[in-house]
Amino acid sequence: MSTLTLESISTLYVKYADDLRAVRDQQRKFLQDNKETVKAQLDDYEAEITYLLLRDLAPEVVVEVGTFRGWSTTWILSALRDNGTGHLYSFDIVDNVVKNVPAELSEGRWTFTKGDLRDTIAKVPTETDYLFIDADHGARFARWYIDNLFPVVRPGTPTSVHDVFHGRRPKPMSEGSVIIKWLAAQNVEYFTPSVAKAPEVTARLAEVKKELKLSEPVRESRHNPMIYFNLPQS
Ligand SMILES: C[S@@+](CC[C@H](N)C(=O)[O-])C[C@H]1O[C@@H](n2cnc3c(N)ncnc32)[C@H](O)[C@@H]1O
Repeated sequence: MSTLTLESISTLYVKYADDLRAVRDQQRKFLQDNKETVKAQLDDYEAEITYLLLRDLAPEVVVEVGTFRGWSTTWILSALRDNGTGHLYSFDIVDNVVKNVPAELSEGRWTFTKGDLRDTIAKVPTETDYLFIDADHGARFARWYIDNLFPVVRPGTPTSVHDVFHGRRPKPMSEGSVIIKWLAAQNVEYFTPSVAKAPEVTARLAEVKKELKLSEPVRESRHNPMIYFNLPQS
């Protein structure tokens, strides 16, 4: 994917506004209907940007590391459903997600593998087109996936990592600090809608969403600490 900018994301909001509106309504209802079993984790902008990028890239193979109860899983599967193509391979130590994801989303487009990714990495497809990581937020796991997961997938693979910018800087000794230092060393740029790191992004996107009548929140949390980047080309 080309380097993300406020303009490119705004354009995607306009292009997919009607489909996004339907998915936002679907996800709001999914949360309301499953209050006891589903816990929303991604905030609205990062969930929506993930959906929009997946619509735009139309990947055949998406890998998700860290499903928990299925909030990101259902956003990703909704994009694949709306594309009419693509398969999601999800990995987690716990399998609560399996009973939470509606069959309408999962059938024919989802494979879940239970277990620590460090033991199940052989199941990660090498032809992955998009990598989504929201798992163990410790520095050690980040160093592990940089050394062991990134080389499995193709150079340049579009990737997102959650929980990086809860503040202006990642927490010391965290996954976030490891990945940000690694990206700098690789000379790879990233995009973030984090309110703490880049408040101008959500301020501008809020205007775009208002014009498109997409302002009503799906959920209230507003940190959006995710980063988006392409793996280095070599
Ligand atoms: C923050 S939650 C994921 C939230 C999810 N993406 C969502 O939007 O609801 C982190 C998940 O990563 C899983 N996890 C942690 N370490 C892992 C590992 N080594 N391999 C696979 N999954 C792991 C945890 O079991 C947990 O369910």
